Amino acid sequence: MKFFIDTANLGEIREALEMGVVDGVTTNPTLISKEGMEFRALVTEICRLVDGPVSLEATSLEAEGMIKEARELAKIGDNVVIKIPMTEEGLKAVKRLSAEEISTNMTLVFSPSQALLAAKVGASYISPFVGRLDDISTGGMELVEQIVTILENYDFPTQVIVASIRHPLHVVEAALMGADIATIPFKVLKQLVKHPLTDIGVQRFLEDWAKVPKK
Ligand code: G3P
Repeated sequence: MKFFIDTANLGEIREALEMGVVDGVTTNPTLISKEGMEFRALVTEICRLVDGPVSLEATSLEAEGMIKEARELAKIGDNVVIKIPMTEEGLKAVKRLSAEEISTNMTLVFSPSQALLAAKVGASYISPFVGRLDDISTGGMELVEQIVTILENYDFPTQVIVASIRHPLHVVEAALMGADIATIPFKVLKQLVKHPLTDIGVQRFLEDWAKVPKK
């Protein structure tokens, strides 16, 4: 299972990379807007820091505009993946970008039928947003289970990125379902590490170690 970090913050990306568990990055316009940095400079630095895939979102509403943006963004690095929203225009764009061998991440996926369409047009990745579904009392992880089954039924090469993760249990459930990737906010990545019994254990070992006579 791969872990991506869902942030555009350079400090968070550096720290997560040092932890050794991060295989890629996903961004979106909201995350980019929080950084107060010029867009091109920011994403160029992210792509330089990270070896794995970096998702950058196209913001045009028409397929032609998305494709134009994608071609420009793809020049930033070999690891760029273009995030395209799940719309009719988005499907047209992914189909054409896939023919040009530009990697795509179909985003804002909220139903199994949307995921099936994304796989059919050749999206490299599909991002179901589990937290936003949970927010409206609909099972986000059930959607992931359905998507994983559909992709396996037909051997689609498209990979599932579980997105809009809110807590560690989303990550554990994604792993149990065999999702390819979880894109994890920095805060949740840190929460995955923590266990109170680990902290208590470390503290107790340190106290006992201090009692051992040493030369
Ligand atoms: O990057 C896409 C997704 O992870 C956004 O999450 O928390 O805004 O629903 P959120």
